[in-house]
Amino acid sequence: MSWKTLDHMQLMGKRVLTRVDINVPVENGRVTDTTRIDRIVPTVQHILNAGGTPILIAHFGRPKGQAVEALSLKVTVPALEAALGVPVKFTSLEQARETIAFAKNQVVLIENIRFEPGEERNDPQLAQRLADLGDIYCNDAFSAAHRAHASTEALARLRPACAGRLMAEELTALEAALGKPERPVVAVVGGAKVSSKLDLLSNLVGQVDHLVIGGGMANTFLAAQGHDVGKSLCEHDLAHTARRILDQAQAAGCE
Ligand code: 3PG
Repeated sequence: MSWKTLDHMQLMGKRVLTRVDINVPVENGRVTDTTRIDRIVPTVQHILNAGGTPILIAHFGRPKGQAVEALSLKVTVPALEAALGVPVKFTSLEQARETIAFAKNQVVLIENIRFEPGEERNDPQLAQRLADLGDIYCNDAFSAAHRAHASTEALARLRPACAGRLMAEELTALEAALGKPERPVVAVVGGAKVSSKLDLLSNLVGQVDHLVIGGGMANTFLAAQGHDVGKSLCEHDLAHTARRILDQAQAAGCE
């Protein structure tokens, strides 16, 4: 294991910049599925119990670098407080320094980081601004970790960094499946787009015995094989790429 976990960090009195994925479904101003919130509880509680201050950094939807009221993370506060059993101090990035100064050993949640134009550009200045708010970086957002954004990539280089509990669990499961697994290994990959998973698919076909593709992405492969997918979600322009992945799979003995 070449990465650090919370157990390697001295957290007493430390401000822990904790990247979480609380991109949850919301209807009529209420969170309708708290799974992602429930999954970050062990990390946040560990930081609190160890005497640290968890400063939650997260995105919500795709506001594309603008403040969009409907995509404020404020809507998640009641669900977060219910899951954690402690109050959550919600703050804009502008007010974060002050809020954090008065939040020793309390949970702070910073407004949707994708309101910042620098987030998706992996902007070093935004990362530095975030780094200045804390002492340690903890990434617990496995489901957002495939994106090199300021709060997931650049920031990790600026502070001593570790994986949160959920991230560690996911990485351990991945290592078990892809390190020295018991064969045969079957990978199941879903999602709308092939385009965002090209590297992943190319990598997987070299490692697993069977690859099952689901979601909208399956249509891109079906279309590439000449099947009519009608009006279903499909990246027709990626037919060539899908065929290349199919060829790679065949060459690697992956079905
Ligand atoms: C998700 O909901 O899949 C993650 O939070 C990542 O969101 P994104 O696809 O908008 O980056």
